[in-house]
This record gives sequence, C-alpha cells and structure tokens, in this order.
Amino acid sequence: MKFDLLIRGARVYPCADGTLASIVDGAIGIASGRIVYLGATSELSAYECSREIDGRGMFALPGLCDPHTHLVYGGNRVDEFARKMAGESYQSIAAGGGGIMSTVRATRTASDDELFAAAKSRALAMRRHGVTTVEVKSGYGLTTEDELRILRVARRLDTESVVRTRTTLLGAHAVPDEHRNNRAGYLREIIDVMIPRAAAESLADSVDVYIDEGAFTLDEARSVLVAAQRAGLQARAHVGQFRDLGGALLLAELGALSADHLEQVDDAGLQALAEAKVVAVLLPGAWRTLRQTPPDAARLRAHGLTMAVGTDCNPGTSPCTDITLCASLAVRDARLTLDEAILGITQNAAKAAGAADAGSLRIGALADIALYDGDDARALGYVLGDVSAKHVVLGGAVVL
Ligand code: NIG
Ligand code: FE
Repeated sequence: MKFDLLIRGARVYPCADGTLASIVDGAIGIASGRIVYLGATSELSAYECSREIDGRGMFALPGLCDPHTHLVYGGNRVDEFARKMAGESYQSIAAGGGGIMSTVRATRTASDDELFAAAKSRALAMRRHGVTTVEVKSGYGLTTEDELRILRVARRLDTESVVRTRTTLLGAHAVPDEHRNNRAGYLREIIDVMIPRAAAESLADSVDVYIDEGAFTLDEARSVLVAAQRAGLQARAHVGQFRDLGGALLLAELGALSADHLEQVDDAGLQALAEAKVVAVLLPGAWRTLRQTPPDAARLRAHGLTMAVGTDCNPGTSPCTDITLCASLAVRDARLTLDEAILGITQNAAKAAGAADAGSLRIGALADIALYDGDDARALGYVLGDVSAKHVVLGGAVVL
C-alpha cells in the first residue's frame, strides 16, 4: 500500500458504530486526504509512505465536531455578563436593547476581514482541542446582506482550511430593531429573500430558527423551515431554552437534523424527536451561563434520543471555544456517560451538523483525525476542559 501519511501504534477509536470500541495498537493510513487503512499496526503489510507519526502513547479520535456555534460576530458582552451575574435576567437585558441586538450592532459595523480574523482565532482555539468540523450559524446580521456576509465568512474558514464548516442561516434569531413594528415584513424578507439567496449562492446547508418566548413563535418557525426545505436546505432549531412552545414536535414532523438546547421540552416532544431521528444537541455553556437546570440525559436516553454536545460559542450565553470542557460539563450536569459524551462530540455531533463524511474513522472517510497523549479517550469527558490535541490532521494534512 502507498500512504501520504501513516499513524501507527496509537489506540484508535473509530466512533463509527455508536460505541467507544477501540483498536489498541492501531494504525491509520491516509492517501489523497482520505482514510485507506484502518486496523491493527501488526496487520499492516508492506507499504510505502511519505510521512509517519509515531502514535505510541497516544490515542486517536476522529477530528471532533462542534455541532452548534455562532462563531462569526463582532464585539463582546462583558458588561452584560456582569449585570447578568448580578441577577438581571437575559430577557430584561434584551428588552433594554442589549442581548442579541447589541451583538448585531457590533457585527454590522465590523468589516468582513475583521469578522474573519475574529472567527478564525476562535476556530483555531477549537482546533487546538482537536475540532476539525464546526457548524456555524449566522444570526448577528439580521439584514439579507449582513446574514449572507456572515455565511461567507464561515465558508471562508473552510476554503482556507482552518476547519471544515457546515453553515446555517439563522435570520430568525431576533426581529431587528428596524422591523420592530413589522414582524411580518421581516419574516417575508427571510422567506422570500434570505433563504432563496443563501440557497442559490450555496452559502447555507441548513436553516435555524430561535423558537422561544421573546423570539419566534411556532407558526413563524414553521413558515421559515418549510421555506428552507423547499429551497433544498435542512431544518434545525433552538427549542425549549426558556419555554417549550412545541418546537420539538415541529422539528420531528419536518424531519429536521437537530433540536438544540432542550432544557424545557416535554416528553411528547422528546419522544417525537427520537422517532424522527432528530439529534438532540446539548449546550452546557448556555445552561451554565444562564444558571439553568440542565436537561437530564436519563430522560433523553429513555426516549431513545441520539445526543450530541456543542459549545454554542456566542458572546451572550456561551463565550466558549472549548468542546472538551462542554463534554465534561455534559457529564457532570446532564449526566451523560463518558462514552455518550465522546460520541456526542464525534459521531453524533457530525450527524447533527449534517457532516456525513466526518465524525467517524472509516475506510473512505475524510482523514480528519485528532491525536492526544494518553490511552483513554474518556479523558475528554473527565478532565475539566482545555484538553489539547497533540496532533490534528485535516484532510490528510498535519495542521498541528
Ligand atoms: O444559543 N438562544 C439564542 N441564541 C443564543 C444566544 C444568543 C445571544 O444571546 O447572543 C444561544 O444561546
Ligand atoms: Fe445557539
């Protein structure tokens, strides 16, 4: 066999079958950016290769996937955070012109290059933890041009090989100030202009709606997500972060990719999501920042839901780029098992992100691999954050 890169001697976790099964002395052979050998080092027959990584003393996972981020934004919300920690509510800060709208103002005034530089530095921080695929939402532009601009920045992270991105149009994140008395007009802009353009210009893979009290109603969400699917984009939504408006039932009915947050979703909603195979995305950074009661993994598990974990990286509720910290908090707060937490940032996260080629090590899959010191992948759900990868391979290229 001929490899461009061979990793040998590592404990390899393929994360391809819903378990944390591993190959103890494993090897991964890579050619043309894809995995062409996966198995025991001892079973490798004669080969040629241009570069080798000695993986002894390390374990290998598929490059991690962060299935829910708002990576592209301007400014920060430190002042609001101080107020929130002193007891003010998220909703009252938003009602006073803060919250999402304060980040919208900072994002609109930032140049494309400024937005790219900030997003790139966050993506590189994620990559140091072993992340190679990131779902990125817009949602801080809230005009057609600004939403599309954010999606272009997210795509550029991919074309410049920082990380792979899956992009999501989140025009329905908030009704912007200039449409305050014209919700219907703003929804028409999302449905008639943003979605068709995002689809025609191949800028988005999916469409998200923030379904909650103070955000968008179930009927509004339905009209946006149906339009998305008609345009060939997939559906997903923020549901039950503060109040259960029935969003889970809608996502199940539409066969969405993911249902995210789920702090407040009832059993009927969870059951419907499980039956429709919609992935539940848990966001510990947000429930921590908002000091909420987390969802209970036992309940989700009892319904048979597939669970993933994301950072929700955003300036308001989760200023966090560390997926390993989030996995670790999901174990402690929501009581995921360590195995569920690791699958939740690999195989199941890729499912939620709609990144079919990522999240698992398989022959023919993308050669996106994270290598860490040690011999037990469960360390990522054990150590309280900042687990750094020793090497990161992206499409066969060693980028760390
Ligand atoms: O996922 N809930 C809506 N969106 C974000 C928060 C956005 C913000 O406050 O800027 C979230 O938590
Ligand atoms: Fe979010």
